[in-house]
Amino acid sequence: MSYICPICSAPLTLSDKSWVCPKRHQFDCAKEGYVNLLPVQKKKTKDPGDNKEMMIARREFLNKGFYQPLSDKVNQLAVDYAANVETILDIGCGEGYYSHRLFETLHQSMPKPCALYGLDISKSAIRSAAKRYAGLHFCVASVFEMPFADDSIDLAIRIYAPSKVEELQRVMKPGSILITVSPGANASFCIKGKNLQ
Ligand SMILES: C[S@@+](CC[C@H](N)C(=O)[O-])C[C@H]1O[C@@H](n2cnc3c(N)ncnc32)[C@H](O)[C@@H]1O
Ligand SMILES: [Zn+2]
Repeated sequence: MSYICPICSAPLTLSDKSWVCPKRHQFDCAKEGYVNLLPVQKKKTKDPGDNKEMMIARREFLNKGFYQPLSDKVNQLAVDYAANVETILDIGCGEGYYSHRLFETLHQSMPKPCALYGLDISKSAIRSAAKRYAGLHFCVASVFEMPFADDSIDLAIRIYAPSKVEELQRVMKPGSILITVSPGANASFCIKGKNLQ
């Protein structure tokens, strides 16, 4: 799978460390390996999403393992419900803790090789994720306008992150699986297919 252009929606092709569309809109890969697909004209604030301090605080907390059981549960649900997964998306992936753990689990259990894409509007979070987890594909983009083609995702996770139902429906393949985790008194896991209502 490749990205689509955030300006004209045409497919992007990787050419010498830059993603380019047929209309020559160009997005360079950062040295850490991620790509920023959030054009300035689509930014609502200067530094959207979680800032560096928030990202570092979350990473320190997650590194202590407090949410590992939650991550394990998400991964188990993915293994139980998703078969033949090739393209995985972590929506609002933050600094990549869940993305990386999910990929490690599925990579071993899926019959075909799979690729995991992590998307977040926070540049600090994506930079940090790409630095730490080199084998995954990270991009700076908004969940409200994701740089993925229609019907392109087999499995998505959304953990404590915002989303828009119409945009999720657009990118998910028919028969795909979405696992969401939302805050509450008791952790709730929600699994939905292409019909995401
Ligand atoms: C509570 S954090 C969760 C991060 C990660 N899923 C985790 O649980 O560790 C919410 C994340 O959503 C991102 N976010 C907020 N608005 C967004 C948007 N419009 N598009 C993409 N990401 C967004 C923030 O930058 C932040 O990383
Ligand atoms: Zn374009």
